[in-house]
Amino acid sequence: MRSFELRNAHFDRLVNTPDLKWLGQNTNHAKLHPAVVEAMEKCIRDEEFHIYAPPAGLEELRAGIVDDLGLNELSALVSDGAVASLYHVCHTFLQPGDEFITTDPTWNWPMAFARSVGATVKQIPIYGEEHGYRLAPERLAAAITPKTKVVYIVDPNNPLGTACTAEEISAIADICREAGAYLIHDCTYRHFAYDHTLAAKQYPEKTLTVYSFSKWLGLAGLRVGAIVANGDIIEKLASSPPNNLGSSIFSQRAAVAGLRVKSEWFPDVLANQRENQRLIKEAVDRIEGLHMPVYPSNGNFVVIETGNAGVTPEALAAEYQQHNIMIRQGSYHTATFGDRFIKVSVSVPREWVQEFVDLLPDLIERARGRNETIKLF
Ligand SMILES: Cc1ncc(COP(=O)(O)O)c(C=O)c1O
Repeated sequence: MRSFELRNAHFDRLVNTPDLKWLGQNTNHAKLHPAVVEAMEKCIRDEEFHIYAPPAGLEELRAGIVDDLGLNELSALVSDGAVASLYHVCHTFLQPGDEFITTDPTWNWPMAFARSVGATVKQIPIYGEEHGYRLAPERLAAAITPKTKVVYIVDPNNPLGTACTAEEISAIADICREAGAYLIHDCTYRHFAYDHTLAAKQYPEKTLTVYSFSKWLGLAGLRVGAIVANGDIIEKLASSPPNNLGSSIFSQRAAVAGLRVKSEWFPDVLANQRENQRLIKEAVDRIEGLHMPVYPSNGNFVVIETGNAGVTPEALAAEYQQHNIMIRQGSYHTATFGDRFIKVSVSVPREWVQEFVDLLPDLIERARGRNETIKLF
């Protein structure tokens, strides 16, 4: 099988596994607000989907996104999800020979987009106590070269759950400005953070803020997100977008409704996922050799290190798979550090987390010492 077929078969198995407990994709399984459901139903009832949406997105949605970020002086370009925005930006601003800098771990797809246009990719390792699981701006300054065209920061970081401080963002923005580099600030998980600073406020000239409705609102399968930047950047991006016929009107109606009810609906989602994190922390602390290096996490997920318990991430993921629970082994995120951890997504029903926690002692015992090749989903 070709690699895309393998990857696709993996996702196909996942979506066709009945009653799968999704603790691996950072998706949000909270019950939607009725107003969001009604907006989608209305779109179907009225058969509004016969039309194309405006190319840059519904005006109410564009305004809602910049308002949600507090970046009202900037402009939003709605896309088929954050990943489409990342693809668009990489293809617009990178050329052969340019350099793209990110962290390790990072979110991997933008590296593939950068390489596909002939750019070279440099990763700064941030995993480990020695780095505090975060990017020290001095290390970015040391890595940057005259060829650096794009710096890509996932903040909060997926999978680590660390978020940059205001001081770090300020320093990172200064470093990018001095180098003349674009800063892609991937804020897909911003809504889950305890504290979050937008680089665009300090470096509006060349910061591209990536926004997603997949995580906080739980619309992953509907594919809607945005890029937010100054008018000149958006003008350039909008001149040759991958989808000039507008993102799904259905998804945009849902996103508009979500933003309208966000202040009423989202606080409970946030509290639930934080309580889920706490339950996992308690369970992890009871088991010798397990460790949560970042707690609390600023994302809707947590990382658990398994090495000192004599357990590989793959073996533990395989054990959970037998119980219809999907978690991620670290190698999904990073080749260098992937043998150290699993990642568990927590914006899910309490019962799923309870089952994960209840099974943990037993499955650690079963997974211990298992290191044969294991087929995961
Ligand atoms: C850091 C990061 N950026 C972007 C995405 C993709 O978001 P979207 O579903 O909006 O395309 C993900 C999805 O997991 C992600 O982790």
